[in-house]
Amino acid sequence: MDKFVIQGGKPLAGRVKVSGAKNAALPCMAASLLTEDVLQLENVPSLGDVRTILVLLRHLGVEANGGGGFLSLKAEKLKSFEAPYDLVRTMRASVLVLGPLVARFGRARVSLPGGCTIGPRPIDLHLAGLEKLGAEIALNEGYVEAKADRLKGARISFDIQTVTGTENLMMAATLAEGVTVLENAACEPEVVDLADLLNQMGAEIEGAGTPTIMIRGVEGLRRASHRVIPDRIEAGTFTVAAAITGGEVLIEDCRPAHLEAVTAKLQEAGVEVEVGEDALRVRSFGRPKAVNLQTQPFPGFATDMQAQFMALMAIADGRSLITEAVFETRFMHVNELLRMGADIKVVGNVAFVQGVPVLSGAPVMATDLRASASLVLAGLVARGRTTVSRIYHLDRGYEAMEKKLSAIGARIERVK
Ligand code: EPZ
Repeated sequence: MDKFVIQGGKPLAGRVKVSGAKNAALPCMAASLLTEDVLQLENVPSLGDVRTILVLLRHLGVEANGGGGFLSLKAEKLKSFEAPYDLVRTMRASVLVLGPLVARFGRARVSLPGGCTIGPRPIDLHLAGLEKLGAEIALNEGYVEAKADRLKGARISFDIQTVTGTENLMMAATLAEGVTVLENAACEPEVVDLADLLNQMGAEIEGAGTPTIMIRGVEGLRRASHRVIPDRIEAGTFTVAAAITGGEVLIEDCRPAHLEAVTAKLQEAGVEVEVGEDALRVRSFGRPKAVNLQTQPFPGFATDMQAQFMALMAIADGRSLITEAVFETRFMHVNELLRMGADIKVVGNVAFVQGVPVLSGAPVMATDLRASASLVLAGLVARGRTTVSRIYHLDRGYEAMEKKLSAIGARIERVK
């Protein structure tokens, strides 16, 4: 298993380009199941989760070709309607094929995802919504079995905002008979990007990006080509990399409007952030100030940025309270940060972070995607050498992170 070896203490300087958004590419790729025509995507990031969903789509019978950020997908006729456990287990977002399969083919057999290190992560809201649309749902041997003649539009109100739940049901509703209204829908930019793609395919969706989305069902969807939006979490991770090392970095090809809550917190912590059209310039002078934050659905502070920001607060001047209000147990990075000399106490879903002047390098272990990013960031500023093992977690959600960091001065290398 690969690991990263990082020599800390060097301020980052230079320019880095942001790749396409993992969490937009995944639902957009699943949308290929909604039509027999070709779906062309560009700016698709080359990372683990994209490779995993490609395996799944090909398993179903989708013709997939491309490379270098381009993908063309054609789901003319399928050879399977089943998403097997060994694939869904490695990537929960596989559940995104459920809505499209039921909507277009009237059947699907998708393994329940099981939990992961950041929480049980059920899909009860996905299933309740599909039932509302008229699907029959049964649970057998750890699989969801869904079938429907033709889905019928309905009013669906989510108890909690769910990103992939909103995406699954929005896709299913595009081919349902009549109108569907999703209430308390997720407002993330990735939901908007998927809605833009679906509308280009001939769907009739209004309100994406607001808590109320209306979908008027159509007979069928057609070919489209679409450029996936930039990854706001990768962009956010690089803003913290610049801040934590006391450097100056220009982050290009990003959408500043997608990470306003993060840039606002950086500015509150005394980091200079200059906002451009499609770039952010981050400059930091010395130790950041401690700030408090609470994760929230978009446009609040993204839960996917909590671990990264905690690494910054670990060296801040003062005490910060970090509340994780979206997932149940998203503090797996804390134990590893403690091994680097951080002073953090977790009580329930609040982490009390007492900033320390210096972290020290140490061998640490990644447990989930964003926790591993947090450990890399801590290693960039820690005194001495940090080795981060199990970085397959990181490779799921970042494209060539060590190459991008080295290009702006980080002393980091991948060791087999
Ligand atoms: C998406 O996951 C993202 N993944 C996650 O990013 C992100 O952390 C999360 O949204 C929150 O922003 C993708 O988009 C592929 P949720 P998702 O459904 O959709 C509960 C990363 O790092 N819930 O919005 O699975 C759930 O347990 C990943 O790239 C139910 O109770 O998250 C959680 O507490 C990690 N029942 C809360 O809602 C359901 O049916 C939000 O989860 C669905 C969700």
